[in-house]
Amino acid sequence: MFMQSLPGFRDFLPDDCAKRNYIFARWREVARRYGFLEWEGPPLETTDLYKKKSGTEIVEQLFNFIDKGDREVALRPELTPTLARVVAAHEREFKKPIKWFSIGQFFRYEKQQRGRLREHFQLNCDIIGEKNLAADIELVALCIDVLRAFALTEKDFVVRISDREFWTDFFRGNNVPAERWADLLQAIDKSAREPREKTADKLGDFADPVFATLKSGGKSPKLEQLVEGLRARGLADFVTIDVGIVRGLAYYTGVVFEVFDRAGKFRAIAGGGRYDNLISQLSDGTLSQAALGFAMGDVVLGELIDEIPVAREAMRQATADDRRIAIYVVVAKEERRADALAEVQQLRDRGYRVDYPLTPTKVARQFQAAEELGARIALLYGDEWPQVKIKNMGTGDQELVAHNGLLAHLQAQYSLSS
Ligand code: HAM
Repeated sequence: MFMQSLPGFRDFLPDDCAKRNYIFARWREVARRYGFLEWEGPPLETTDLYKKKSGTEIVEQLFNFIDKGDREVALRPELTPTLARVVAAHEREFKKPIKWFSIGQFFRYEKQQRGRLREHFQLNCDIIGEKNLAADIELVALCIDVLRAFALTEKDFVVRISDREFWTDFFRGNNVPAERWADLLQAIDKSAREPREKTADKLGDFADPVFATLKSGGKSPKLEQLVEGLRARGLADFVTIDVGIVRGLAYYTGVVFEVFDRAGKFRAIAGGGRYDNLISQLSDGTLSQAALGFAMGDVVLGELIDEIPVAREAMRQATADDRRIAIYVVVAKEERRADALAEVQQLRDRGYRVDYPLTPTKVARQFQAAEELGARIALLYGDEWPQVKIKNMGTGDQELVAHNGLLAHLQAQYSLSS
């Protein structure tokens, strides 16, 4: 029996890594296009950080333990509490609004199921220090554009937008005691995924008005304004107002949104919203900063890319090129190995991706390796020395070049982008 990995944890073989790097590259590229700067926090935090801020569901899913210094610690299940902690400590050093993104791995002790593992990667994008709805519009636009970078369209995914203030106003209007708000929000959050009776039980006396509001969709001028802002950018077809979205995390205060595939096959691709009180809570009231952000996971996104042919093809093309080498050095005569290796070194110094056989190998096998590795050219070191034979692996054309002019010749005649 081979040792198994833990349930919910993935091994990333080279193909999986290529796909992951493709996802990370798109994430990074679009976040930078929006002027966001990359940052990172630690993978381990004090358990308290999450107990206080994330809400009960995530605390039940913590990977936590006591470390050797008797500290209660947890692998991070999300980035937002860390961000709030870091901003509270360093806020003065940065001009507002702060626009930061981060790509990292997160851990939740969830029941393993399609789209949900015990580790996953997230892109987090957050804006700190801007109350205006313009920031919410910018953030949702960024989220849409990140997904568009994977060749996904409005036919493939939808951003469901809501507002927690819509519900807190509703609670006030219906005289719901404030201490019940959090529970009711949780029940509304789960209502689409749970049997109606279970939700009704949790809502108690307020079941009827809540169900009626969910059915009618409610009205929110703020959300309509948000959609108008996206319409001005040509992105309105990607969003829909859905007050049934309230998000599971405890700290959200205003606009919230979640992204789903249009076909409704998968779990949420991304989610986020405003958390204007979190930084103040984490700094015990000494600092108050408006904040909003979202996170997109790699697991569901990967599933969706595999599902949509155009997106899958875009990924295949991008990753196929990524894996190719440029040059395969064929050592046709072992006496030439030292000369060949000297050139391998020079070619690699120039930035080309170069491979060669580590041990004596039949020439036919070497060409086979060149093909398998996707080499654009093969360089043959044999009887022709001090000339080197260049074989174009695409066309089969061959030519002889003096070895001391080889680098210049390759640069001038071949596009071997490294
Ligand atoms: P979240 O909705 O808990 O939000 O997670 C964001 C995304 O991470 C989900 O939509 C999903 O794609 C992915 N994800 C979450 N848990 C798992 C899992 N167990 N397996 C695979 N993927 C998963 C947050 O984490 C907030 N902190 C987002 C945020 C940032 N809010 C403001 N700024």
